Amino acid sequence: MNNGDVSRSRRRFLIGATSVVGGVGVVGAAVPFVASWNPSAKAEAAGAPVSVSIDKIEPGQQVTVEWRGKPVWIVRRTDEMLENIKKLNDTVKDPQSKEASQQPEYIDGIYRSLKPEIAVLVGICTHLGCVPTYRPEVAPPDLGPDWLGGFFCPCHGSHYDLAGRVYQSQPAPLNLEVPPYRYDSETTLTIGLDPEAA
Ligand code: FES
Repeated sequence: MNNGDVSRSRRRFLIGATSVVGGVGVVGAAVPFVASWNPSAKAEAAGAPVSVSIDKIEPGQQVTVEWRGKPVWIVRRTDEMLENIKKLNDTVKDPQSKEASQQPEYIDGIYRSLKPEIAVLVGICTHLGCVPTYRPEVAPPDLGPDWLGGFFCPCHGSHYDLAGRVYQSQPAPLNLEVPPYRYDSETTLTIGLDPEAA
């Protein structure tokens, strides 16, 4: 894919970004996906934290919110998905995300999340910034029999697992970024704030 294609893909994200949820004070409105959003310019400029209600996210479902102009994915991973992440420890390049700081220091382990079942990832490919596609299915024809669910970048084909860990020998050099976030309750998390204990 050439640079024109990459720019087109990025442009698609910019267009798409107008249809994701952003801003503060949207608890309860962030899920499910809404058709339009009305950003507070002031909040956006400040990079304000974004609170998200997660109780309506179904097992296996991905939702996207916007934080600091970036898409942030929240995925409720099933037990099968968590098992499949484990199976990919030898397939991914940096299973414990030791290589570079792509996540806050209070995030560790193979699931790269505060709670195993909820993934929170910045949806921007670490190669040239395209937005990967959520491909949770196992062994779809176009991705082959070894695919155990993950994120696929359409620009140059980078493969990530469901923890955002990049496979070996991909154009993308690093795992997807995990933003700072914390739980305010069992059903609400805030992106852009560290846990109080951190
Ligand atoms: S931008 Fe190149 S593989 Fe994702």
